[in-house]
Amino acid sequence: METVLSGIRPTGHLHIGNYFGAVKNFLKLQENFNSYFFIADFHSLTTHPTPKDLHANVKNVLAEYLACGLEPEKATLYIQSDVPEIPEMYLLLNMNAYIGELERTTTFKDKIRKQPDNVNAGLLTYPVLMATDILIHRANKVPVGKDQEQNLEMARKFAKRFNHMYNVDLFPEPEAFNFGKQLVKIPGLDGSGKMGKSEGNAVYLIDEPKIIEKKVMKAVTDSGPTKKNQEKPEAIQNLFTILKVVSDEDTYKFFDEKYNNCEIRYGDFKKQLAKDIINFTSPLREKILEISSNNDYLHKVVTLGAEKARESASKTLAEVRKHIGFKRF
Ligand code: TRP
Repeated sequence: METVLSGIRPTGHLHIGNYFGAVKNFLKLQENFNSYFFIADFHSLTTHPTPKDLHANVKNVLAEYLACGLEPEKATLYIQSDVPEIPEMYLLLNMNAYIGELERTTTFKDKIRKQPDNVNAGLLTYPVLMATDILIHRANKVPVGKDQEQNLEMARKFAKRFNHMYNVDLFPEPEAFNFGKQLVKIPGLDGSGKMGKSEGNAVYLIDEPKIIEKKVMKAVTDSGPTKKNQEKPEAIQNLFTILKVVSDEDTYKFFDEKYNNCEIRYGDFKKQLAKDIINFTSPLREKILEISSNNDYLHKVVTLGAEKARESASKTLAEVRKHIGFKRF
């Protein structure tokens, strides 16, 4: 069976765009692949979070992914820093990663621009750590967004380089897992762009109903359609796209017809949208709160995850050490 792996940055909360995008696809992957999902807390250190924030962020994503249905029995769900084999292999791979190629990656150049006062070595070698994450489980497929494709390309490069250098066939070349049409893109509430792209355009799973109402009622609209069956402008189409995933078909049709007949009242439309979003997120929100308050359960999940991840990682690391030439006296 093919191995799929994905890293999750512990920053921020899941919004409904994440849910209908990545998370739903992860749920399918855990059914059909040998799957690894981990919280990339080592990676998050490049921006120097406070100890309190670091832990809180890891806990948030863990509780939220669990609430959405990732199952620790099906997938291997772990925290990166619970696997000491990762830093060791990272050290070893760093010996074959060249400063020049690392400096040329677009993610590094972006970071230099965004945080010129904190251009640390961890940022430079970020692709090596990411390659380690992937190669240590010899993963074949990695679901990544466009922004991570170059990092995946680097992982392939390091895999080939190692195989070639020691004349072995240890690492498969990891490919991007393409969800194609199945990847639903949920727009934000501010009239343009994807949900989560800008501040305040997202509805989070953890948002309280009152907050959701407020956000939806403030969503960008226009002065209404003037011609029957006219094409919807982007801001309006976006709200309909969200309605489509959270409402039933009849509700969607009702408002679509109202729009097409130039009879829509955005106030009513938004009230319905808010109500249906709340209906959708409420059970998830309750689940998140329940899981977050159950430390015993979280402890069990990460312990099992670390055990499974270390079993796979230590096998690869033992091979790597052997090929490099480390030998016991
Ligand atoms: N770099 C990824 C991101 O920013 C997170 C990540 C870390 C990752 N290690 C990974 C993703 C390994 C896929 C595979 O989103």
